Amino acid sequence: MAQIYDGAVDRGLEGVIACTTAISYIIDANLTYRGYTIEDLAKNSSFEEVVYLLWNNKLPSDAELKELKGSIADNIGFTDEQLSNLKALPAKGIHPMAWLRTAVSMLALWDDDSQDNSPEAINRVSLRLVAKMGGLVAYLERIRQGKDYVAPRAGESIAWNFLYMLNGEEPDAETVKVMDTCLILHADHELNCSAFASRVTASSLSDVYSAVVSAISALKGPLHGGANEQVMITLNKIGTVDNAKTWVKEALANKEKIMGLGHRVYKNGDPRAKILRGMSELLTNKTGQPHLYEMSRVIEDTVREEKGLLPNVDFYSATVYYSMGIPLDLYTPIFATSRVAGWLSHIREQYSKNRIYRPRGEWTGKSGLKWQSPSAR
Ligand code: COA
Repeated sequence: MAQIYDGAVDRGLEGVIACTTAISYIIDANLTYRGYTIEDLAKNSSFEEVVYLLWNNKLPSDAELKELKGSIADNIGFTDEQLSNLKALPAKGIHPMAWLRTAVSMLALWDDDSQDNSPEAINRVSLRLVAKMGGLVAYLERIRQGKDYVAPRAGESIAWNFLYMLNGEEPDAETVKVMDTCLILHADHELNCSAFASRVTASSLSDVYSAVVSAISALKGPLHGGANEQVMITLNKIGTVDNAKTWVKEALANKEKIMGLGHRVYKNGDPRAKILRGMSELLTNKTGQPHLYEMSRVIEDTVREEKGLLPNVDFYSATVYYSMGIPLDLYTPIFATSRVAGWLSHIREQYSKNRIYRPRGEWTGKSGLKWQSPSAR
C-alpha cells in the first residue's frame, strides 16, 4: 500500500503535495503568481498582463501584450449561431453556474480545435476561453432580463467589455479598475479544488474544454467559489449592524458555517481579503451602504474571537460586487471569468509533465462475501 499521510485520508487530502507546480504559491499569508506578489500585481498590473504571466512564466513586453490583447479582441465575441443556441438554453430559475457549465461545454462543439491537444491548438482554445467567459456571463444576464446581446468593443479590456456587455453602457474608468483588480485577485490559487479538478481531468489526456468544465463544476460549490454569493445572502439575512454579533454567535453555536471565513491553507489571513476589504470599505461608502461594510467587520471580528478564523477572498468580494450593482448569483460566474486563466495554466502544466492521477483508496468495506441467489438473500 502506498504511504498514507497522517490525517489526510478522508480529510480532503489536507497537507498532501499532489504535484509540483510553478504557477502560484502560498506561503503563510502571502500569495505569488509566478514569483510576483499579489499586492504588486493588484496595484500595478492588468488582468491581461496576469493572463500572459500565468501562461508564459514572464510579464509581457509592450509588443507581447499588444499581441495578446489583439488575440483576445479577435475571440471575445460570439457568432449568431452561438448566440441563438445559447439563448435557447433554459435560463429562468437556473443557477448561472449550471448555465455556464453547459454553455462552456457547448462552445467546444463549435471549436474545430477542441479535440486537438497540440500546444498550438491548446493556445488557441485558451485564448477563446479566457476571452469568452465574461461575455457568456454577461449574455446570460441579458437573456434573463429579456435584453439583446451587446457586442464587445475591440481595443477594450476584458474587465471593460464584461461590464459593457452586461449593462449595455460604457463603464466608467473607476468601475473598470475595480473589476480588473477583482479579476487579478481571483486568477489563480495554487492547488485549489477547481484547479485540481481541471488537472485530474487533463491527466487522462482529455481535452481542454472537458478539463475547464470539470473546474467550473468544482468552483460552483459553496465551500469553494460559491461562497461569495452566500456571503451576500448572509449579509442580507442579518440586515443590520446591531444584529450581526448575536446572529454570528447563534450560527456558530448551531455549528453552522459562516461563508467567506476560514481557509484550508491560510491560517494567518488571506492577502486577497485584505485588498478586497479596503475596496469594500471604499465602495460601500461611495454607494451609500456603509452598513454592509460595518456588518462585515462585526462578522469578521466575531468569527475571529470565537473560532480564530479569518476572512478569505470571498468575504469582501461579495460587498464589492454588490456595490457595483451586480446580481448576487453572478458573483461565482465572475470568479470563473477570472479563474479560467489559472485553470488553463494548470491544464497546460499538467499536459507538459503528465501522468494520470490514480490514487488508492484505503479499504474499509467487507471482504470474503459469497454471491447467493436472490431467493437466498
Ligand atoms: N464558519 C464556522 N466554522 C468554520 C468555518 C466557517 N466559515 N470554517 C471552518 N470552520 C470550523 C469547522 O466547523 C471546524 O470546526 P470544528 O473543528 O469545531 O469541527 C474547523 O473550523 C475546521 O474546519 P474545516 O471545515 O475542517 O476546514 P477545512 O480546511 O476543511 O475547510 C473551508 C476550509 C474554506 C472549506 C472552510 O473554512 C469553510 O467551509 N469556509 C466557509 C466556506 C468558504 O468561505 N469557502 C471559500 C473558501 S476560499
